[in-house]
Amino acid sequence: MTNQDLSAFIDTTDEWIVSRTGIRERHIASDKETTATLGLKAAQAALDIADILPTEIDLIICATSTPEYIFPSTASLIQAWLGASTSGAFDLSAACSGFVYGVDMATQAIKSGSIRTAVVIGTETFSRILDWTDRGTCILFGDGAGAVVLTASSVEGGVLSSVLRSDGSGGDLLGVPSVGSIDISSIPTLDESHKMGKMFMNGGEVFKFATRVIGESITQALDIAGLTIADLKAIVPHQANIRIIQAAARSLKVDESIFVCNMDRYANTSAASIPIALVEAVQQGRIKPGDNIAFVGFGGGLSWAAMVVKWGVPPPEERGRVLSRQRRQVLYRVAWWRVLLGRTLRQLNDVINRIRPERGRMERLRRNYDRSER
Ligand code: COA
Repeated sequence: MTNQDLSAFIDTTDEWIVSRTGIRERHIASDKETTATLGLKAAQAALDIADILPTEIDLIICATSTPEYIFPSTASLIQAWLGASTSGAFDLSAACSGFVYGVDMATQAIKSGSIRTAVVIGTETFSRILDWTDRGTCILFGDGAGAVVLTASSVEGGVLSSVLRSDGSGGDLLGVPSVGSIDISSIPTLDESHKMGKMFMNGGEVFKFATRVIGESITQALDIAGLTIADLKAIVPHQANIRIIQAAARSLKVDESIFVCNMDRYANTSAASIPIALVEAVQQGRIKPGDNIAFVGFGGGLSWAAMVVKWGVPPPEERGRVLSRQRRQVLYRVAWWRVLLGRTLRQLNDVINRIRPERGRMERLRRNYDRSER
């Protein structure tokens, strides 16, 4: 969806959006797509690159603010469709910082020895929670998904440092009122700009917060890793607004070109924005094995997170498999049929129970009881 497309139904222009945000277009999920289907595709693409089987995954973390349900988790849906039969799965809610939080959680679990391989997915369908009549917010977001595979490896590097932060006092600046443990009507700030199930935002305040925390948290993460900004090959930031990145570059005293930016083509895809930008940068050869890079996410909560990573790829002997691609496809098919068959059988059972006369059921129970007594 281009800015031009947007200006057909809201009072905005391509010129305004590009000059204030750097965004030119965004992708919108089709009616059949959901956060889980997008996340599944991203996870499958990541497994293809890592060349591992879904049965080798120990943990799936799905960072999202737009899950299909409160529960089951989107991660569990993806786990079933992948056929990751021996994997744990959970959703992580840290808004646009979620991917960095997720990578940190997976890294700690691998370092502790409790798991060997994790998939971290950032996936969102913000188009479903936007108020498409609010030009201050709907122009900023898009749908998308990205994923990475993390694994224990003999290669030096990986995550060198993480800084995870939160300031919940700013929770009124950015959020989505939705079904939960709070009576929505009791929120004092609820008015026509706070609609049930729709995102609200104080753009100016979020802008100031973002420009402050990017520089601060990257500097802290670099200190912990014992590196300086000159050691970084690239910074992959959350893709919110090009002006936020320009301000962060000024505060870090670095050239803007160190930041990987693609918000012009995807807009803000929240937890998915960092993995999408990361994958593009790797595919373009901008990030190579051995490079030091940084991630920085910021958003609702308020939450923010920075991380320094030495980009490493395990050697082929640690991951070489015969016919892995074909085996993956077979496992996906089996997983899909397993989900479908299980649900169909449960539905069939429900229907049979409903049409069976109650008396017949009681008689069966009595017969079973008599038999057991004998
Ligand atoms: N098209 C045209 N005009 C628009 C508009 C749009 N899509 N959205 C707002 N305007 C108008 C406003 O109504 C206002 O008009 P007025 O002066 O007549 O009242 C004017 O443009 C300026 O609005 P303002 O909100 O001050 O613009 P801004 O320069 O602060 O830019 C944002 C607004 C939302 C782009 C900017 O605040 C921002 O990017 N904030 C950060 C948001 C973000 O990244 N959130 C996610 C973080 S994870």
